[in-house]
Amino acid sequence: MPHQFGTFPTTRLRRLRRTAALRNLNRETALHPGFFIQATILRENDDPAVIDGMSGIERQTIDQACALAVSAKSKRIGGLALFPYTKPSDRNSAGSAAFDPSNLMCRAAEAIKKAVPDVLLIGDVALDPYTDHGHDGLMDDSGTIINDETVEKLREQALVLARSGFDIVAPSDMMDGRIGEIRRFLDAQGCTETAILSYAVKYASAFYGPYRNAVGSSGVLKGDKATYQMDPANALEGLREAALDTQEGADMLMVKPGLPYLDMVTRVKESFGLPTVAFQVSGEYAMMRSAADAGALDFDRALMESLTCFRRAGADAVITYAAMKAADLLSY
Ligand code: PBG
Repeated sequence: MPHQFGTFPTTRLRRLRRTAALRNLNRETALHPGFFIQATILRENDDPAVIDGMSGIERQTIDQACALAVSAKSKRIGGLALFPYTKPSDRNSAGSAAFDPSNLMCRAAEAIKKAVPDVLLIGDVALDPYTDHGHDGLMDDSGTIINDETVEKLREQALVLARSGFDIVAPSDMMDGRIGEIRRFLDAQGCTETAILSYAVKYASAFYGPYRNAVGSSGVLKGDKATYQMDPANALEGLREAALDTQEGADMLMVKPGLPYLDMVTRVKESFGLPTVAFQVSGEYAMMRSAADAGALDFDRALMESLTCFRRAGADAVITYAAMKAADLLSY
């Protein structure tokens, strides 16, 4: 007499897990390379390539970034999200290099669009790679990051990025009101087709550590970013952020970091229905990479599992340092 399980004796969920073919048939979530956006740190030719804490990832010169774009296209990856390394001597309190139309980001976008016109480019909007205090906005004498003055600068930065060919500008600074201001400004300047991906729900996170090394901010950053980035304890506030950015004209919304915040990915996606992007940030990559390097886990499996979970949670795309790798693994 077989054991009876509750009211439905014939229900055995393991039946559909018995073979790989059954498991394939019943998989609810599929990955495709278009889901992956490669996070890419740019450098000038004479800047160092190696990023402390991120083995397997190197800063890319413009030529290398062009080659990466060619291979991203051949792998059908969703796109490239670019961030610049800026050495201390090129930084100042105003973050002036951010508005220079011949800065590294703009030259890279122009070169990549020339090499591979249809590769999608996302440009980060925030002053932190360019300021000598490492903050995303302007700082007054008392050390406060001043909102409205910063927003005026961010729209200038968004404009140079839009003009250099970025398809999407992605404000990651968490100033209030910047989405509406950037949208109005871009429209007034004729950049009506440049989309805005708002880092709407962005937390003050320890997981950004390796990124700050990567862009050259960790040595210079004074204090933390808790007066503008969100408290990791807050979910409802994240929905308010997303609601405001949606009203202000964001085309897409982002949740960041990724894995510890999958509840927010689901809630943002279900509440607003906008294309929702998650960012598997530098610290998330570094955790998997260093655990794998220590022999504690299999990097490839951990990577694909984490990306599947982003998809299952409702993300439409994920920015990750391992996009190229993930695309290769999919094609096995
Ligand atoms: C800042 C910015 C950060 C990241 C992208 N843009 C970090 C920060 O707030 O200091 C993080 C990316 C990552 O950790 O991979 N504007």
